[in-house]
Amino acid sequence: MKIIMLGAPGAGKGTQAKKLSERYGIPHISTGDIFRANIKNNTELGQKAKGYMDAGQLVPDELVVDLVVDRIKDRDCMKGFILDGFPRTIPQAEALDYALNNQNEKIDYAINVDVPDEHIIKRMAGRRACVGCGATYHTENMPPKKEGICDVCGEKLVLREDDKPETVKKRLEVYHSQTKPLIAYYEKKGSLLTVDGTLDIEVVFKKITSVLG
Ligand code: AP5
Ligand code: MG
Repeated sequence: MKIIMLGAPGAGKGTQAKKLSERYGIPHISTGDIFRANIKNNTELGQKAKGYMDAGQLVPDELVVDLVVDRIKDRDCMKGFILDGFPRTIPQAEALDYALNNQNEKIDYAINVDVPDEHIIKRMAGRRACVGCGATYHTENMPPKKEGICDVCGEKLVLREDDKPETVKKRLEVYHSQTKPLIAYYEKKGSLLTVDGTLDIEVVFKKITSVLG
């Protein structure tokens, strides 16, 4: 099953993608996580991406398209994959379709996690991310077992650099102008599944899996 997660920053794409990955045994590929790991390791890609990310802007298409197209050719993607945070522009979606078409494949579901902007701004203030493995928590909706510490790897939890309110506003603007048009793009292809992302995490998950099977 080949899935992409659509939705505004903080809509819950990563939260649902992780659960879907466990449920269906297919890899969760988050371009945001890949960039953050590159920044942490101070790679050339990380150095190029950091300025854009900290400003709440998109990293240029040419830095992300090949990376994803190569990644989905890996062996662990043979049964499918969940792309989280890619595609984010129409050219990225076209490049992905082109790569899949060449192998007679296509995206099965584009899951649009729908959350209004007002809701997002409140939600982001409570998000905490692990500096070690990138796992995501929420101070109220999904707290770690021990405050400030990652359940998975025991490292420290922090507010993401781009989760400051000014940057969240910028990311929302970028989402509306550049990423939202993908909803119509996948609707036209008949692969769109929209879920109400303001519901509880488990309820959202059940709604998605009731369609995916
Ligand atoms: P990325 O890391 O993809 O960030 P994003 O799209 O802004 O999305 P987030 O990760 O912030 O939110 P999410 O939807 O995953 O929500 P989450 O599950 O964490 O990208 C970061 C940056 O990288 C971009 O700004 C860009 O610069 C660059 N980039 C990445 N990909 C790119 C691309 N393809 N092209 C160009 N640039 C790219 O949930 C949020 C919080 O809410 C959590 O605390 C969670 O616990 C909580 N929560 C989740 N669901 C619920 C619920 N149902 N109810 C209550 N709380 C919930
Ligand atoms: Mg995410």
